[in-house]
Amino acid sequence: MRDLLPPTVSVAVAGPADWTGELLAAERSGLGERAVQSRRRDFTAGRVCARRALTGLGLPAVPVPAAADRSPVWPAGVVGTITHTRGYCAAAVAHATDVRSVGMDAERHRDLNPGVRRLICRPEEEERLARLPAGTWWPLVLFSAKETVYKVWHPLVGTWLDFQDATVELDPQTGTFTARINPARVAAATVADPPAVIHGRFAVEGDLVRTAAVLTH
Ligand SMILES: CC(C)(COP(=O)(O)OP(=O)(O)OC[C@H]1O[C@@H](n2cnc3c(N)ncnc32)[C@H](O)[C@@H]1OP(=O)(O)O)[C@@H](O)C(=O)NCCC(=O)NCCS
Repeated sequence: MRDLLPPTVSVAVAGPADWTGELLAAERSGLGERAVQSRRRDFTAGRVCARRALTGLGLPAVPVPAAADRSPVWPAGVVGTITHTRGYCAAAVAHATDVRSVGMDAERHRDLNPGVRRLICRPEEEERLARLPAGTWWPLVLFSAKETVYKVWHPLVGTWLDFQDATVELDPQTGTFTARINPARVAAATVADPPAVIHGRFAVEGDLVRTAAVLTH
């Protein structure tokens, strides 16, 4: 994810040992006792990466617990994001003085069935996707961009965003995307200066789709 985020953001990508690394006591309740092995590995890699990303900012490797809504709880003055998919996990953090919010998402290639696709893509997005060059599974890139948008939006604004609440335009030339948020959601936000537009980047290598975005001051 290093390539998709500005230098003010510290990024850690999981290596082989991180999936079976150590969870700190304050982090364990985020996993629950009955978590299956795959969930345990994903959650562990996320926490190990999160703490390594914190040290990359020059901060101590403090625990990163999970909030009741399952979002990560970062130390005061820090914003951050975690993603994991099969065999890939990354965390990114930044000082809140440098970045208002950061989000990222990784997905392995899979077909989105027509019902799921209808939930995710707005009609105008489908029209634009149909005009993009063949060879990339664009609906999955769009889906990932929307998950990234939610991870930027939710920690800052604290409200839900439906997949239909963002209209995402992908630019395959520059590997960037622009998400326009439903004006009603922006108007209803109670934080100062809620984002109406979120700009991000994407990359597709083999079957791995990655997206990331930051909101600056
Ligand atoms: C929260 C969500 C975006 C996570 O995405 P995902 O593809 O399922 O999974 P990822 O591996 O990429 O990310 C999971 C991590 O996101 C983080 N996360 C969970 N809830 C979060 C929230 N509300 N805000 C920010 N980060 C959150 C957690 O760190 C989680 O990992 P962990 O449980 O191991 O700590 C997704 O599950 C979701 O709820 N989506 C619906 C909302 C949405 O995307 N709307 C689109 C708006 S345009």
